[in-house]
Amino acid sequence: MSDAAPPRHLLDLTALGAADLRAILNQARRRKQARAGMPKGASDPDRPCDGRVLAMIFQKNSTRTRVSFDVAMRQLGGSALVMSANDMQLGRGETVEDTARVLSCMVDAVMIRANRHEDIEGFASAADVPVLNGLSDRSHPCQILADLLTIEERLGDVRGKTIAWVGDGNNVLTSFLHAAPVLGYALRIATPPNYAPRTQDVHAARASGARVDVGADPGAAVAGADVVVTDTWVSMGDPDKDERMQAFPPFAVDAELMQRAAPHAMFMHCLPAHRGEEVSADVMDGAQSAVWDEAENRLHAQKAALMWCFRLL
Ligand code: CP
Ligand code: NVA
Repeated sequence: MSDAAPPRHLLDLTALGAADLRAILNQARRRKQARAGMPKGASDPDRPCDGRVLAMIFQKNSTRTRVSFDVAMRQLGGSALVMSANDMQLGRGETVEDTARVLSCMVDAVMIRANRHEDIEGFASAADVPVLNGLSDRSHPCQILADLLTIEERLGDVRGKTIAWVGDGNNVLTSFLHAAPVLGYALRIATPPNYAPRTQDVHAARASGARVDVGADPGAAVAGADVVVTDTWVSMGDPDKDERMQAFPPFAVDAELMQRAAPHAMFMHCLPAHRGEEVSADVMDGAQSAVWDEAENRLHAQKAALMWCFRLL
């Protein structure tokens, strides 16, 4: 077993106060700048996670989350191992709690991508080491850390900015809702009525002081916005693909819609993207697109998130 202090989990951005969130974003930015030009596999000179090992469990596919956490641990001086839940006894019915107890004896932290958010919570409740949510059906906090880093790189302090979300009221949007009151940005959301974000998440963000508008008009959501964000119309595990493909075409982000945003507006997408569906190819690959910086920033944000979990921030 590891630290005597309770483990610092990162299951949702609601766990972070403004000081924690700021510390993570500042640490990510500083480390990114400090290692510019270094080979990607070289460790940061201070190796703050020397000797630590992260286990990753995936119940769903991943490219960015898997690689960014693995390389993050190498750059911090530690190491990582990646497991598919299907290859583990989890896939044969061993409970998440028992798995957590066992892994807590062998590794220093666990990142999980799970079908059910409750399974990540159950894992964390039984773990003696920090647990990070690498995406669930409910939220994707590590993605939004990278997104906020990307926004601030281009536009400066996110406080007072307007972020327009067009498309599905999904897990990625939920994490934007979680951080909105903490960092003080406004969210303008346009979704088909049946795919709106959960009212409890919207109400919680508003109750904590965030300005959140929810509607079904992409043009109104995007008007004058600083940032325009979308995501796939069919997330991993969504059973209703046919209905979604019917409902979402009016919510595609194309050049005409981007013209309604502020002239300096940036386009974001957590990826993977589907050109010709939620985003047109010209927007995805155009001058306003920040998607490749956003993907790279997964690495820098994950390093800082890991340091926070290890109480190194
Ligand atoms: N954005 C994101 O989480 O990508 P992966 O599914 O490839 O990890
Ligand atoms: N909303 C998407 C994000 C993928 C990174 C999904 O859950 O599949």
